[in-house]
Amino acid sequence: MIYNLDDIEMGAPVPTDEPMRQKYFMVKLREKLKAESERLGRPLKMHCTTFGCQMNARDSEKLTGILEEIGYVETDSEDADFVIYNTCTVRENANQRVYGRLGHLNGLKRKNPNMIIALCGCMMQEAAVVEKIKKSYRHVDIIFGTHNIFKLAELIDSRLESKGMIIDVWEDTNKIIEDLPVDRKYSFKSGVNIMFGCNNFCSYCIVPFVRGRERSRNPKDIVREIENLVEDGVVEVMLLGQNVNSYGKTLDEPMTFAGLLREIERIEGLERIRFMTPHPKDLSDELIDVMKDSKKICRHLHLPVQSGSSRILKEMNRQYTKEHYLGLVDKIKAAVPDVSITTDIIVGFPGETEEDFEETLDVVRKVGYDSAYTFIYSKRTGTKAAAMEDQIPADVIKVRFDRLRNEIQGISSGLIARNEGTVQQVLVEEVNEQNSSLMTGRLSNNIVVHFPGDESMIGQMKAVKLNKCHGFYYMGEAVQN
Ligand code: SAH
Ligand code: SF4
Ligand code: F3S
Repeated sequence: MIYNLDDIEMGAPVPTDEPMRQKYFMVKLREKLKAESERLGRPLKMHCTTFGCQMNARDSEKLTGILEEIGYVETDSEDADFVIYNTCTVRENANQRVYGRLGHLNGLKRKNPNMIIALCGCMMQEAAVVEKIKKSYRHVDIIFGTHNIFKLAELIDSRLESKGMIIDVWEDTNKIIEDLPVDRKYSFKSGVNIMFGCNNFCSYCIVPFVRGRERSRNPKDIVREIENLVEDGVVEVMLLGQNVNSYGKTLDEPMTFAGLLREIERIEGLERIRFMTPHPKDLSDELIDVMKDSKKICRHLHLPVQSGSSRILKEMNRQYTKEHYLGLVDKIKAAVPDVSITTDIIVGFPGETEEDFEETLDVVRKVGYDSAYTFIYSKRTGTKAAAMEDQIPADVIKVRFDRLRNEIQGISSGLIARNEGTVQQVLVEEVNEQNSSLMTGRLSNNIVVHFPGDESMIGQMKAVKLNKCHGFYYMGEAVQN
């Protein structure tokens, strides 16, 4: 997509409205960075590392879009002129990885003192983290949070003008800034934010504290963005939100998520629609109906259960019971028979007993997940669960975690083989990493297939015969469409 900066008048005062204000800083930085690049006799390079979820991945595409617009060229290496970490704080180990890598960056910055290091994302929304960086990681240049990523150009300009560490973290926002540049990682598929923030306050989860209150984008903006993406070659979109089922509740003209899906289904040229993440507490019959009738919504539902114990679910503030969840799964399977169901599970939530854990195993057996992300409970400061008594010892959690993984693996490898021998439509995504004569693509139900082919197929829908299932993926061959 071509991004238009022609409407900016540099002689005039700095605009106060967005996105004009950021466009102004982009034009200004283009000049400055061009001069720097000429002085060095080489292009200026940027590197962005993303931690965390798809929401962060999408934000990173926006950050990279701005950086490329002002003249940086993307590189795989951290030995660059601008390095940005888009961080995650959902579990403690995500934080530790950032600190580890910041140490390494210090060495690189000594060799290239003009290097700019920026940190943003969910970790930066925590005051204690920012304090620690201010104290112990003085080589960081810019810190900002999840609510003002659109301001990147302005923050870089402030850094170049002032030389000190720039810190700009907002507690929350009701703004949604549209129309800034984006650099998509894939030409043929894209994430699309439909809402930001979360109001659910699951008792273990830090996301509502670092992503702020729930707000939905206007359906017209979403549809327009997808239409533009399709014009630009995108055939698959992933609609993103922490709880997509509550989409539209806060709009001036409220709209349901199912209603939004119906609008998106009508977009010509769009082949596939995915979404992430629905919450079991308000997955509506209307949504199941829309999925049933849709030609474009993928046959995949990621439905995080977190625990199979109704008692623990209550403590987690998930607002559904084991029975309600299993009932939902039955309804979905009846309406969409070939659907693939996947989930997230937390092991070792405070107070989890052997009986509670057995309930989780029972859900795993009853649902038959194609795959499941399993997490060891991580205590997040400020959440309700962090203050709960009866935190479970690490060794007990580890044993349960391994039992759960074994159970899931045993079930899912058998399930995934169910399509063996059939011909399925596959979106071809990339050249196989291990064997360059093979292409890798995905079925509607998100399962991966490798088959002989060439690079020209990338981004196309192909009919592929699934010859053999190897646990979590298929080997196949393309047949006539
Ligand atoms: N909004 C999504 C999930 C976002 S976070 C939802 O409600 O399903 C992604 C996953 O991280 C969660 O589903 C949960 O399984 C896991 N998670 C969140 N907080 C956690 C914590 N404190 N410890 C361990 N896992 C956690
Ligand atoms: Fe966290 Fe719950 Fe919100 Fe998901 S729905 S982001 S788990 S608080
Ligand atoms: Fe992590 Fe933030 Fe996503 S905490 S999981 S990057 S919303």
